[in-house]
Amino acid sequence: MAAETPTPLLLLHGFPMDARMWRHTVARFESERPVLAPEAGDLLDPGNPSIAGMARRAIELVDNSGGWSEMVVVGLSMGGYIALEIAAQFPDRLAGLVLCDTRASADTPEAKANREAMAKAVAEKGVLEATSAMREKLLAPMTGEDVRQEIAQMTADRSPAEIAACQMAMRDRADHTGLLTRLHVPALVVVGEHDAIAPVDVAEQMAKSIPNARLAVIPNAGHVPPLENPQAFNEALAEYLGR
Ligand code: MLT
Repeated sequence: MAAETPTPLLLLHGFPMDARMWRHTVARFESERPVLAPEAGDLLDPGNPSIAGMARRAIELVDNSGGWSEMVVVGLSMGGYIALEIAAQFPDRLAGLVLCDTRASADTPEAKANREAMAKAVAEKGVLEATSAMREKLLAPMTGEDVRQEIAQMTADRSPAEIAACQMAMRDRADHTGLLTRLHVPALVVVGEHDAIAPVDVAEQMAKSIPNARLAVIPNAGHVPPLENPQAFNEALAEYLGR
């Protein structure tokens, strides 16, 4: 009898990064299962950016590459918003859900205003300056300069149009707080212990709301555990996948 292919992984990165954010995760898991890590830039419809549209495009990409009927969707922050939209629109495609350093609630009016300010600033000041205040909050105090530089490089490689479109998509995203209680797959909620953007209490609340969820708090990491503490992140993911 042919061995069953392990469940594929769909990895959805955070803002203002790209799929290189998952490089340690891909290196750890690609020899044991199919892994797809699309670029947010390839999921966006620049004329009509939305998280719901990014979720539809991610599933189209899956259908055009692996054609997997089911997958574990792993999303970090903005990627988590897309992952929750996949859960809302395509529940039958989910074998599992991993929500990293993200939240299910929609933006507050203040957060929406900040996004509009960044979308405006990026055209005037460029991607690095427009995102610098946000990037200051991304990492744990003990995270090395190499990771900071890596994130700056990923940001520098984005176009102003992509940064603005991501902000508009996130501004208008749906509130999925109610969806958490209806999730029918086992979930893992991951958070860096020093995450200043989507902190530990937000992750704890999400894990409590999901009927079948584990919480993993990653030490020595802020908002981007897959880069800041890849070993602990990969261990938590491997343990969940082996459940
Ligand atoms: C991210 O890391 O993707 C961002 O923090 C998401 C956001 O701005 O809400």
